[in-house]
Amino acid sequence: MTKVRPADDPHAEAEALDLLRAGQLVAIPTETVYGLAGDASSGEAVARIFEAKGRPRFNPLICHVADLAMAEELSPLGPLARRLAQAFWPGPLTIVVPRREGAPVHPLATAGLATVALRCPQGVGARLASALGRPLAAPSANPSGRVSPTTAAHVASGLAGRLALVLDGGPCGVGVESTIVAPRGDEALVLLRAGGISRAELSAATGVPVLDRAAGAAVTAPGQLASHYAPQGHVRLEATSVRAGEAYIGFGPGEVPGLDGACAALSLSPSGDLREAAANLFAALKAFDDPAIAAIAVAPIPHEGLGEAINDRLRRAAAPR
Ligand code: TXA
Ligand code: MG
Repeated sequence: MTKVRPADDPHAEAEALDLLRAGQLVAIPTETVYGLAGDASSGEAVARIFEAKGRPRFNPLICHVADLAMAEELSPLGPLARRLAQAFWPGPLTIVVPRREGAPVHPLATAGLATVALRCPQGVGARLASALGRPLAAPSANPSGRVSPTTAAHVASGLAGRLALVLDGGPCGVGVESTIVAPRGDEALVLLRAGGISRAELSAATGVPVLDRAAGAAVTAPGQLASHYAPQGHVRLEATSVRAGEAYIGFGPGEVPGLDGACAALSLSPSGDLREAAANLFAALKAFDDPAIAAIAVAPIPHEGLGEAINDRLRRAAAPR
């Protein structure tokens, strides 16, 4: 059952915090649209977000921070990002910055990228991140492919039963998603998504030009490239046996023929749990991204639920380069 409670009720906020601490999901009002929030440092919570949205792939998620200090914990921001945060936070601006080593953001939330998208929202989202002491990963609280929700009723009807609690803060003021920018050094901003803050506001506040995505070739559109973030070795999918010298990524119980001859092996989920497998996927690909590993065999993953997104990412990792 999905409960809807007023966002300004302290008991509801306390309940939301308990749920987040337990790795569960809570929909929160923000100034832009409602977000489907979970603890960004928990692979299980982040996997639940993708599962609840029915997303067919793992796009990186925005991490919502309590304040500038929490943002600094997650990234060595740099002067331009800091200037943007001071000018527009809390507010509808997301800044893509380098992810700090050891930051409490699970690789599934960043889709394995070396960058992280940060935003400080107004109100209950920032308070919950502060009380939790960790960022909240939160995409818009709608099923994949549907419009972003701007009321609690909209969230409750779209995601009914797929999350525990919706905090109702009334209709969202901005009504479109946050603007996403990436600083390019200290000289320019690259606009990755138009949204609540206009290009003119961005350049007025920073004094630097705002370039289109095409001009910011150094910033990739995550998930768009076929071979995005692939390991160096050849990736062989749907492997039902291991060839000598291959590394092996398994899934589920049971022995696979040839495992003795593998150069390395790990399992996405020994019990065959897709949520656990999703949480382990990027770490597994990274673990085997090693010049000494020429080939990686990957067990078949069921193409249902989160399996669809896992298989999408594995296909990209296996695409010819
Ligand atoms: O207004 C908003 O931003 C809402 C509310 C809930 O805060 N959130 C939202 O999140 O729209 P989401 O996850 O639906 O949007 C994520 C966008 C995607 O387009 C993704 O590609 C981009 O942010 N993104 C996330 N991390 C990124 C990164 N490291 N580099 C580039 N783009 C990134
Ligand atoms: Mg969305």
